Amino acid sequence: MPDVENPQNGAAPRPAAAPGGTPDNGRAHLPAARRDGPFLNACRRLPVPHTPVWFMRQAGRSLPEYREARGTVPMLEACAIPDLIVEITMQPLRRYAVDAAIFFSDIVVPLKAIGVDLDIKPGVGPVIAEPIRDAAAVGRLRPLWPDDVPYVTEAVRSLEAELGDIPLIGFAGGPFTLASYLIEGGPSKNHERTKAMMYGEPELWARLLDRLADIAIAYLKVQVEAGARAIQLFDSWVGGVAPADYRRSVLPHSTKIFSALEAYGVPRIHFGVGTGELLGLMGEAGADVVGVDWRVPLDEAVRRVDAGKALQGNLDPAVLLAPWEIAAERAREVLAQGRTAEGHVFNLGHGVLPSTDPGALARLADLVHEESAVHAGTR
Ligand code: CP3
Repeated sequence: MPDVENPQNGAAPRPAAAPGGTPDNGRAHLPAARRDGPFLNACRRLPVPHTPVWFMRQAGRSLPEYREARGTVPMLEACAIPDLIVEITMQPLRRYAVDAAIFFSDIVVPLKAIGVDLDIKPGVGPVIAEPIRDAAAVGRLRPLWPDDVPYVTEAVRSLEAELGDIPLIGFAGGPFTLASYLIEGGPSKNHERTKAMMYGEPELWARLLDRLADIAIAYLKVQVEAGARAIQLFDSWVGGVAPADYRRSVLPHSTKIFSALEAYGVPRIHFGVGTGELLGLMGEAGADVVGVDWRVPLDEAVRRVDAGKALQGNLDPAVLLAPWEIAAERAREVLAQGRTAEGHVFNLGHGVLPSTDPGALARLADLVHEESAVHAGTR
C-alpha cells in the first residue's frame, strides 16, 4: 500500500485544499469523475449555490427503518456487516435532501478491532471490560492494520459507488474522548480518572494518546483510501478540558492525526461538545472545518477561530422537539450567523436525538437549501 506521507517518487504531497485534483496515492483506483458539490466546496470555503447540510447521527434510532434493519443485532456486530452498514448509511439519504452521508460505525470500532474487550450497551454507550490505567495496559494497545477492519473497506467501497456525487464522511474518535472511555471504563460525567492521569502521569498519558492517535490515523486512512471524501474527528468529550491543558496534553495528538491526513486533500472536520473555549485551538490542530455546538453562535465562533477555516453547526438538536415554526426560526438564525463564516456547513450542534420526528429533519434540510439559495442569489 502506498504511503502518502512518503511518496515513493519523492514529490511533495499535494496541498490540502486542491479541489478537482487527481486522486492521491492510495486512492488511484477511485473514479476521477466525482463532482465536488456544495458540501465539499463549503468545507473548502468556495462559493456554493446553497448552504450544504447533513446531521450528526442522521442514521440511528430516530428512524423506524433503522430500528427495523438493526432488529436484535448488537451494535458492534452491526458495525462489522458491510451490507447492513451500507443500508443504514443510505437510509437518511432516502428521507432527507442532505448533502453528505456519514459512515455508519462507531468511534470504538477500531478499538474492538485491535482486541480491546468492549461492548456498546443500549442507552449507556461504550463499556470497557478492563479499563486501561497503567503502563502495562497502555503497552498492550497495539496498532490498527487495514486487515483488522476489512468490513470497513468493503462497506466504504460499496457506498462510494452507490452515493455517486454525494460525498461520504469517514470519522474517528478523538484522542481525549477515546482515552476517557478506555480509562473510565465507560461513559463519564467528570472524566475523573482520565484527568487524574492527564495531570498526574503526563508521560503515560502522552504515550496512551499517541497510540490512540495512531489508531485514529490508521482507521481514517482505511476509510479515505476506500473512498471517503471528507473526515470528521469526534473529540466529543474534550470540552471539559481547559485551553492551557488542551494545548499541552491533547493538541499535539490531534495535530498528529490531522497532519497525517493532509496529503489526501480531503476536508478535515474537528468537532466536540462544549468546546466554546477550545474552538481556536481545535482549528489550530489542523482542521479545515471547525464544528461548533449550539452554545456559541456561529458569528461569535468566527471570531474565535483563525482565518482560513470553515464552520459547521449548530442548531440545538432539542429545538426540533418544539413546534416546527420555532425550529424554522432558529434555523434561519443559524443560517444568518453562518453567513459571517468563510464557509458554512449546516448541522445540528450535536447528534439527532432519538425522539426527533424524521419529518422535522426533512423539512429542516429543505429549509436550509431554500433559504440559503435566496442569499446565494441563485433564485
Ligand atoms: O449517523 C451517524 O452520525 C453515524 C454513526 C455514528 C454512531 N456513533 C452510531 C451509533 C457516529 C458518528 C458515532 C460516533 C460516536 N459514538 C461518538 C461521537 C459522536 C457524538 O455523539 O458525540 C460517541 C461519543 C460515541 C460513543 C457512543 N456510541 C454513544 C455515546 C452511544 C449511544 C449509546 C445509547 O444507546 O444511547 C453509542 C452507540 C451508537 N453509536 C448508536 C448509534 C446509532 C446507538 C446504538 C443503538 O441503536 O442502540
